[in-house]
Amino acid sequence: MLLQVLGTAAGGGLPQWNCACPGCAGARAHPERRRRHASLAVRADEGSWYLVNATPDLGEQIEESHELRPGPGPRDTPLAGVVLTDAELDHTLGIARLREADGFEILATPPVRTALLEGLRLGVTLAPYTRVTWRELGSEPQPLSPGGTIETAAVPVSAKRPRYAAVTPTACGDSTGSGAPTGSGDPTGPGWVVALRLRDTATGRTLVYAPALAAWTEGFQYAVEDADCVIVDGTFWDDEEPVRTGISSRTATGMGHLPIDGPHGTAHRLAALGTRCLYTHLNNTNPLTDPAAPQHDRLAEWGLGVAADRMVIEL
Ligand code: MLT
Ligand code: MN
Ligand code: ZN
Repeated sequence: MLLQVLGTAAGGGLPQWNCACPGCAGARAHPERRRRHASLAVRADEGSWYLVNATPDLGEQIEESHELRPGPGPRDTPLAGVVLTDAELDHTLGIARLREADGFEILATPPVRTALLEGLRLGVTLAPYTRVTWRELGSEPQPLSPGGTIETAAVPVSAKRPRYAAVTPTACGDSTGSGAPTGSGDPTGPGWVVALRLRDTATGRTLVYAPALAAWTEGFQYAVEDADCVIVDGTFWDDEEPVRTGISSRTATGMGHLPIDGPHGTAHRLAALGTRCLYTHLNNTNPLTDPAAPQHDRLAEWGLGVAADRMVIEL
């Protein structure tokens, strides 16, 4: 299985256009610290690739990858489609940038598809430009492409809705029953946010990709125990980071992201796996955006690391 890390930043990217925080200022001063929005490319079969999430940086991410560039014909592209882990804007705004294609596939869970069709109105918006073929993403493994050996399956990890698809007090039909504006119900519920399991049936090698992880569910534990590589939500170093840095009144867990460090953190659980584990979806407030931060030593002691943009992973 061949994978390319196309980006490793949370929503806003690094630097974020309107942000002068130390992380963003550091990335402006040191261009090697820049990170594009979190995304992955996976080779489905010879000459055919799928993106995992479609970010606002999608055009540049394709240009920066030799394998994803068009050719040999003037409008030939190796890009066959997009697999979505959620409906958040940082993972879906890039879909509109694919409108020059003759057509492409989108694999999404039912709530994510509904959010894109009814919230963002992507179906009616894109119909005059290109042909979008929708495929349901579920917990049963399915081949990414008909002739290939890569299978994909979804593992629900969060009930958090994007803000544009929030449940208003007057609206009905929130299956989480939480009443919370972006949903905070059963993480194993309707599939608003999933981890992806990508498995090569030819080799048995497996990757788990979870750029947003609100809860360490039983299903997620089962998936990572079986994986050869895990790329996981590293949005915040600790639970108080969003409050301390003034970007939010909610903690990391309150925002649907388990922190790396601390009692509810993912680090000790990942370290116990003894598998190759890399963090992604770093927010610009995360101290790990500074390569000199002591938190990198802590990660190394746990046997963990941070994914880098343009990293190639062969499993
Ligand atoms: C998230 O990861 O929590 C979302 O992408 C937040 C956002 O961009 O609004
Ligand atoms: Mn995000
Ligand atoms: Zn910033």
